[in-house]
Amino acid sequence: MSKILVATEKPFAPAAVKGIKEILEKEGYSVVLLEKYTEKKQLLEAVADVEAIIIRSDKIDKEVFDAAKKLKIVVRAGAGYDNVDLDEATKHNVCVMNTPGQNSNAVAELVMGMLVYMNRVRFSGKSGKELKGKTLGIVAFGNVGQNVARIAKGFGMEISAYDAFPNKAKFEEYGVKYVACEKELFANNQIISLHAPATPETIKSINYDLVMSMPKNGIIVNSARKEIIDEEGLLRAMKEREDLTYITDIMPTNNDEMVAALGDRYFSTPKKMGAQTGEANANAGLAAARQIVGFLKNGEERFRVNK
Ligand code: 3PG
Repeated sequence: MSKILVATEKPFAPAAVKGIKEILEKEGYSVVLLEKYTEKKQLLEAVADVEAIIIRSDKIDKEVFDAAKKLKIVVRAGAGYDNVDLDEATKHNVCVMNTPGQNSNAVAELVMGMLVYMNRVRFSGKSGKELKGKTLGIVAFGNVGQNVARIAKGFGMEISAYDAFPNKAKFEEYGVKYVACEKELFANNQIISLHAPATPETIKSINYDLVMSMPKNGIIVNSARKEIIDEEGLLRAMKEREDLTYITDIMPTNNDEMVAALGDRYFSTPKKMGAQTGEANANAGLAAARQIVGFLKNGEERFRVNK
């Protein structure tokens, strides 16, 4: 019986795992679970005889592909696939897919929740600020950015967005102002929400100059990837500008320095939790299971991301 591995260092909700199993077992596959693993060795052993793997932010590199002799497909249950070495996948004749859009509402809700939390002074009872009437600039207007815009509209915010590959129809649909350059977006919005993937073009792109150009009392919210931040530049800018705030769902490498230097103007979740809801786990996990069945049974490649 062909084996399919669910390898999640950060596990799905139990109901999502149950749903994944049901879909795959009904099609005659046996499902192997590797959750909360702490060492790469465990992953290398688990992949040895499986045809497919469902992952989240789990790192799939050359060593994993070398160890997975029967592997045909990896599905990243989620949006960003910077954790998978696509060239190695192609060299090993393995298809890689993601499940775009499936967890984006969860991430967007967390963005708004963190904004409310920080604007209300961490629910401390001190007098805070409202979001209504504030300007919001969205970097990358994909699935998560669009969900943030939808919810932010309800808060009465004024929304603009920048996208390297803009789909103008989406800007119209969400009633969001299109801004042609990132510099302009940072200079004109009190709150910036980051949704860009980590690519050679975006890595360290949120730098000292961009941060310094923000209006007074600017806030940056990052629910995308820590790699897109130039951490040294951000810290330097925030030391010089005591009015700025940084909120992130991806703990920076220099977290300790940030805490020490910025105090209340900085907040990071302890572990990335944007997509960590039962609904998002089920949406992304079940989509991943269905995509595996479609690929293995019928050669469907709709969400393939490697060549
Ligand atoms: C994604 O790219 O889908 C999100 O960053 C969620 O990642 P996670 O599955 O590791 O929570």
